[in-house]
Amino acid sequence: MIRFDTIVDLRRHLSTLRSSHKIGLVPTMGALHEGHIRLVENAKHENGLVVSTIFVNPVQFTNADDLARYPRTLETDTQKLEAAGCDIVFTPSVDEIYPESPTMRLNFGDLETLMEGAFRPGHFNGVGIIVGKLFNIIQPDRAYFGQKDLQQVAVVRRLIHDLSFPIELIRCPTIREADGLAMSSRNRNLSSDEREQAPALFQALTLAHDLLTEGQSPAQAKAAVTGFFSGNPNFRLEYVEVVNADTMQPVGEVLAPGQTAICLAAHLGRVRLIDNLVF
Ligand code: PAJ
Repeated sequence: MIRFDTIVDLRRHLSTLRSSHKIGLVPTMGALHEGHIRLVENAKHENGLVVSTIFVNPVQFTNADDLARYPRTLETDTQKLEAAGCDIVFTPSVDEIYPESPTMRLNFGDLETLMEGAFRPGHFNGVGIIVGKLFNIIQPDRAYFGQKDLQQVAVVRRLIHDLSFPIELIRCPTIREADGLAMSSRNRNLSSDEREQAPALFQALTLAHDLLTEGQSPAQAKAAVTGFFSGNPNFRLEYVEVVNADTMQPVGEVLAPGQTAICLAAHLGRVRLIDNLVF
């Protein structure tokens, strides 16, 4: 695996390989876990060359504390990427990516007004800017994103569509711990007590899923999830929504198989967790 820190060196290297290799891109912010590694393995399976990026993107953080506490484990990350078969890792500095703070603003329309868009205003602007930059720098054939961040997948789909990037977007399944907790870099910030309680998010999603498949309405399933958390003072539920899994718009009834998603976000202590189920 070769590591690059500068755009010019990475571009020069890729220009010699582009004609003979399909390029799969896996963007990350590091603190890698099995969820990230599966993206790399999927990319390796489908492309001649896999490029991963590790960059904690300040522009997408809406909370200074969250940015400061974001885990940084570059050495073990690069070892994990190499073991997973990654060919190239791009680890730029903040100055390399943002010599000046970007002044442009991206707005993803309806995606901005609900769930992550509503509770983290400006977050998707930051995601769109960095993903757009990485698409331009690396010019991959395929880009791999996790279902864990389902609304982010919808944002990247719009970015690709609206700016005509010739890139195939691949959504990969959420990887979970044995107790159901979706893997996340932020799980490292949970105390051991909180870690024991964290699977409640997946339990709430499962509860909502079961009610919906029994024929209850999205409103009833959402009420059940709200009730589930109101009995637990350690959690502060931010939202629960039943949405179209592609557009993220709320639905009044269950859609065709694979089209409905239940999404939620909750604070557990100082850690904000998100999760979803698509069914
Ligand atoms: P990060 O949180 O590091 O996640 C990188 C990729 O890994 C994202 O596509 C995310 O959805 C995926 N991922 C995270 N946890 C996962 C899990 N348990 N199962 C499957 N996939 C999982 O998402 C970001 O970084 C950033 O917003 C980024 C796209 C890199 C832009 O800065």
